[in-house]
Amino acid sequence: MKKIKKAVVPVAGMGTRFLPFTKAVPKEMLPIIATPTIQIIVEELVDSGIEEILFITNRYKHPIEDHFDYSFELEAKLEANGKDDQYEEIRRIADQANFYYKRQKETKGLGHAILQGKEFVGDDPFVVVLGDDIVYNPDQPAIGQLIERFYELEKDVVGCKKVPMTEINKYGSIEADQIDDRTYDIKYCIEKPSIEDAPSDVAILGRYVFTPKIFDHIEKTKPGVGGEIQITDSIDSLAKSDGVYGYIYEGKRYDVGSKLGFLEATVEYALRDEEVGKEFAEYLKKIK
Ligand code: G1P
Repeated sequence: MKKIKKAVVPVAGMGTRFLPFTKAVPKEMLPIIATPTIQIIVEELVDSGIEEILFITNRYKHPIEDHFDYSFELEAKLEANGKDDQYEEIRRIADQANFYYKRQKETKGLGHAILQGKEFVGDDPFVVVLGDDIVYNPDQPAIGQLIERFYELEKDVVGCKKVPMTEINKYGSIEADQIDDRTYDIKYCIEKPSIEDAPSDVAILGRYVFTPKIFDHIEKTKPGVGGEIQITDSIDSLAKSDGVYGYIYEGKRYDVGSKLGFLEATVEYALRDEEVGKEFAEYLKKIK
């Protein structure tokens, strides 16, 4: 089995849930303490063996390109001031992978965004990671768990988690035969079903390992929920021809695309932080 080295990362969403912040700054740049969420996503990819990362962007996403580029003025200043650690860190961010950018010229949905990666991917298996979910797992990154399962099963794998039934209407939901503790053989999946119609409480959550076959299915997918080409509909089509597995990855997931999820991530990452964690914990005790 070919090693997975490529990732497609859609970042072309408008981020309307975080207006007015997102008027001039991409939502992917929202910081968890001092690290943009997109950097946390990129580090998950790199820690899972990914070397080539294609961002699917739009005209408002330049800060993401700048973030993963060298920054000569800043670097010269840090060097001159003897701030070696910060200099190294700034360089590391740009050097940790090869970054590519392609614009999604029209907003036609997540499936359409992923399709923009077809030429980049070529004949190789690849991963897709969405920036709205960050997953904390210091032992093994979520996408690394899925890649490992892909090598074992030799079939496309999508990352899943159980969610409260009252929230399933926000996600893709699967109907599947459970084949072990964490693995499901998907029979059918549907994007944002009503709570009554949802096939289960198992949601597809932001992490995918695909073979290039998925592109044939995306190309055949008609606009679905919200008039958009939904990747969940393409996965449903793939499930019915070649098969797809769902895998419940381990790790604490934060929905940083929602205000509450973003606040939860901020507080919990701050509590774990070497520099501010202790003091912050004391502060929280004081204001309770
Ligand atoms: C997207 C996907 C959906 C998935 C969700 C969370 O929806 O279309 O299937 O469950 O992300 O990863 P969005 O939140 O962009 O509307």
